[in-house]
Amino acid sequence: MLAARAVRASPDDPLSALEVADAPAAEPPAGWVRVAVRAAALNRHDLWSLRGVGLPAERLPMVLGCDAAGTTDDGAPVVVHAVVGDEDFRGDETLDPRRTLLSELHPGTLAEHVWVPRRNLLPLPAGWSFERGAALGTAWLTAYRMLFTQARAVPGQTVLVQGAAGGVSNALVALGAAAGLRVWVTGRSPERRARAEAWGAAATFATGERLPGRVDAVLETVGRATWEHSVRSLKPGGALVVAGATTGADPSAMLQNVFFRQLRVLGSTMGTREEFERLLSFCALAGLAAEVDSVHALADARDAFARLGSGEAVGKVLVTV
Ligand SMILES: NC(=O)c1ccc[n+]([C@@H]2O[C@H](COP(=O)([O-])OP(=O)(O)OC[C@H]3O[C@@H](n4cnc5c(N)ncnc54)[C@H](OP(=O)(O)O)[C@@H]3O)[C@@H](O)[C@H]2O)c1
Repeated sequence: MLAARAVRASPDDPLSALEVADAPAAEPPAGWVRVAVRAAALNRHDLWSLRGVGLPAERLPMVLGCDAAGTTDDGAPVVVHAVVGDEDFRGDETLDPRRTLLSELHPGTLAEHVWVPRRNLLPLPAGWSFERGAALGTAWLTAYRMLFTQARAVPGQTVLVQGAAGGVSNALVALGAAAGLRVWVTGRSPERRARAEAWGAAATFATGERLPGRVDAVLETVGRATWEHSVRSLKPGGALVVAGATTGADPSAMLQNVFFRQLRVLGSTMGTREEFERLLSFCALAGLAAEVDSVHALADARDAFARLGSGEAVGKVLVTV
């Protein structure tokens, strides 16, 4: 089976740890379902894995990829949910201490086939392409939970998205605008800020620029480069939801600001199956689709990783089988 795998850890040159080649199919756990992958999406998580973050040497080689859409053996079109919880765990599977994402413990989606527990399959909405379904996994699910579960944003509020044109930013802006939020965005270039405006941002600003007012919530995935601005931009009692740290995970904590203004700092990771169902329904009702930066054949997955690693991708980088 053709697959894109991490075969070693390379902190400084992640692409050197990538192998795109025929690989033996792993023996799936009992009762898991096989999906013939038709489209899969790349995420920064895959680059972290190639760097060795969250993927210890004893689990290598490992098929990469969290997101996919494809067909089951009986021909049903499905979208794959990447969060695999312990089958005995009850409740929000993102809080299961034993939960894992596809490609961390079990082979991921960047392959001709992927095996998942049946509960990790959702029907592909009618009329959708496999690309449209695959593009919504990690990035859009994370954005949905950040906005509606963690920040508890409601129509009419103002939120700030740090980063303009990445995969998660695209989702935060499109979902937030469709839900009646005033979405402000910071971005690194006029071109990338223009993309956010096209997706529904009410106003955009250069990274670190003073805003015209304070916001109800900040959606943060950039990390060190924007954290201070995020803390300063919040109203008293506002929510700072953090799901990533692309530029570094050790910024100044700004504790005086946090306690004086009683800010709520909330971590967020992925989402539940139920949130994924609601996300698919929301996107179908509102006519939302992820911006697709580029589509590559699985055999050319190296080009897809290079594009993601360049930092210039606008929206999602996809692979098709
Ligand atoms: N916790 C979770 O479950 C979860 C899920 C998904 C993603 N994540 C994390 O979230 C982060 C973003 O993911 P993604 O898929 O959106 O990545 P991406 O598509 O590569 O986008 C990167 C974003 O970071 C911004 N950025 C990068 N360097 C910056 C800098 N020096 N200053 C200001 N902004 C900068 C970019 O802003 P511009 O567009 O303005 O250039 C862009 O919006 C990653 O670290 C990822 O690992 C976490």
